[in-house]
Amino acid sequence: MGKGSGFGKVILFNEHFVVHGIPSIASAIDLTTDAVVHPWKGEGFTVIDQRAGTAGYSLAKREHQMEAIRRMMAAMGVDTMRHPMEITVGGNLPTFSGIGASAANCVAITRAVSEELGLGLSDERVNEVAYEGEKAYAGNPSGIDNTAATFGGLIRFVRRPSGNVIERLGIGKPVEVVMGNTGVVANTKAVVEGVAQRKQKYPEKYGKVFEEAAELAGQGREALEAQDWKRVGALMDRNHELLQAIDVSGPELDFLVKLAREKGALGAKLTGGGVGGCMVALTPGRKLQGAVASAIENEGFQVLRTKIGVLTG
Ligand code: PMV
Repeated sequence: MGKGSGFGKVILFNEHFVVHGIPSIASAIDLTTDAVVHPWKGEGFTVIDQRAGTAGYSLAKREHQMEAIRRMMAAMGVDTMRHPMEITVGGNLPTFSGIGASAANCVAITRAVSEELGLGLSDERVNEVAYEGEKAYAGNPSGIDNTAATFGGLIRFVRRPSGNVIERLGIGKPVEVVMGNTGVVANTKAVVEGVAQRKQKYPEKYGKVFEEAAELAGQGREALEAQDWKRVGALMDRNHELLQAIDVSGPELDFLVKLAREKGALGAKLTGGGVGGCMVALTPGRKLQGAVASAIENEGFQVLRTKIGVLTG
């Protein structure tokens, strides 16, 4: 039997922009997807998906998941006709869109296969293999999700053809956030492609927005490291406007972002692929976190009360 885990994540600044080389900041959250691999009597591999979360997520993403596993097996040089496997996926990370569920799934499975077959993959190699799997879900993924899912912690990530730049950031004490789930399962791949197409079609408008996003990442980093939560919140608010400008928000996301701010969140924005999926609100302190989370729940949406900067190792 082989076992492995991958962290969920929240993107604090610059999802989508990150695909095009703009710096971004993400944090792992304290929830994981866990995979267990057993030898199997059938042919190839089979997947038992026990993850809880958005209704219909696992079914909607089934093809992506199977394709991801085929890609990852190829990247690891594993022939599942010679080593048939039963892969069980579970853990406490819910399958909300925008929470890094696909990347956590890829990292967990890679680690479990590595353990089962004694491949001894390093974290760096796990990250590379999981990136191959992510392509099945996201088409042209930046790599930020699998990086956060593999290494954990708070990271600044820049996509570079010559090798991604990954830096760990420190914020002292972990800080409370609320993630609200719109319940809408988004097709990340289609949303990412849509941004690329519009960027080509409207170079002037998109150029300006992308420039501001790059500046904002620098300011966000400074504010996080200074633990200036008011400023971090304001920058998150602005980041949401930039994401609206490139057309990746949606009515449910905008509603939850507004609600969180009204309830006192220092800032709120969509997080991850957008259109549906999740938003994140910055809510330092258990009291504020509770107030924002309850308000979202009272509107009938699922929430996660979690923290950024929890995992440092
Ligand atoms: O929705 P998620 O959790 O898969 O996050 C996608 C993040 C994007 O920036 C939209 C895509 C990427 O590859 O970085």
